[in-house]
Amino acid sequence: MQSEIAKKIEQISNRIFPKLVRLRRQLHQYPELAFGEFRTSKKIEELLKKLSLPVKTGIARTGVVGILHGKERGGTVALRADMDALPIHEQTNFPYKSKNRGVMHACGHDVHMSCVIGAAFVLSELKDELSGNVKFIFQPGEEVLPGGAKSMIQAGVLKNPAVSGIFGLHCDSSIRVGKIGVRDGPTMAQADDFEIVIIGKGGHGARPQDGIDAIVVSSQIIQALQTISSRKINPVEPVVISVGKIEGGSARNIICDRVVLKGTARCLNKRVARKIPILLNQVISGITKSAKASYRLNYKVGYPVLSNHPGATDLARVTIAKILGKKAIFEIKSPVMGAEDFAYFLEKVPGSFLRLGINNPEKNAIYPWHHPKFTVDEEAIKIGTSVLAGIAFEFLNADRKFHRS
Ligand code: NI
Repeated sequence: MQSEIAKKIEQISNRIFPKLVRLRRQLHQYPELAFGEFRTSKKIEELLKKLSLPVKTGIARTGVVGILHGKERGGTVALRADMDALPIHEQTNFPYKSKNRGVMHACGHDVHMSCVIGAAFVLSELKDELSGNVKFIFQPGEEVLPGGAKSMIQAGVLKNPAVSGIFGLHCDSSIRVGKIGVRDGPTMAQADDFEIVIIGKGGHGARPQDGIDAIVVSSQIIQALQTISSRKINPVEPVVISVGKIEGGSARNIICDRVVLKGTARCLNKRVARKIPILLNQVISGITKSAKASYRLNYKVGYPVLSNHPGATDLARVTIAKILGKKAIFEIKSPVMGAEDFAYFLEKVPGSFLRLGINNPEKNAIYPWHHPKFTVDEEAIKIGTSVLAGIAFEFLNADRKFHRS
């Protein structure tokens, strides 16, 4: 990307910034839960149509895709935003706080949408200088399994024309506004859900020998699950197994006949991920057998490991340096065990998922994701917009080497 293009991208991003802030606040006021983003997707559709882009709607229920054709023919790059909010009651005092009681954009998806719409505005103005196509993908239901990404891929959003690179970003309150976090390789975890039902035999609390105490069995299982990561998996591979919920028992003097444990299992390696349910079964079956109890394990595989393509991430680094300067690149040192369904796109197409710095204590933008006081420094919208637009240019006009490798 030549420096004149970088300059133009910056100028347009600055000019449309007030409009993007208004958009973000509108979206913020009317947050919608996963797969119920009807008002949101209507708004996105209107904005893309205003740019005279061909638009497809109703993909995976509420998903929207717009496509911009550059003047010259070429490849296709995609920019993705997620659209859903969370079942959280907002505790901020902004005039634009949520009007949908108990629902809040507490993960910044309102910002992600504004950045991708912003990129659509910028790139539409510069389409005569663009070789190839840009797809703008607005995805429902990132927060709830099975997520919207998978069904959008099944519906063919990466085809016709075939997408050869995909980029997205996520707000990050641990990164100062003005910076963009990047990382090669595994960056976010595979996150699976499990439910274990332990079936014992009830009885009087004074006569334990006549029953099979599901509470004692479950306590052994909870302890033993921790030996999966500490004793059964290579210690250099991060694994988290957390039991977050226990249900069981009816009274203090009754032997409990049934306990349900619910939890999450996370790791950063596909092969390790395949081992975890097998190891869970081994541990649970051994313990229940020794107690003459039985069990059912319901294991639900979640979003895969999110792995950024090094070439695509380098392209992002080059773009950030051209638009914002090298100082804006924030190298993320270690992965996190959170999950994100952008990972499905990256399984199909090389690309990179960036972190958009939103932290600014002066604007109270310090709270982590899913916090009822979560907020952002809106300057980040301008930064996200220009970087995404720049990446599309860089990908289509300059460097296409990485998607052949
Ligand atoms: Ni999120």
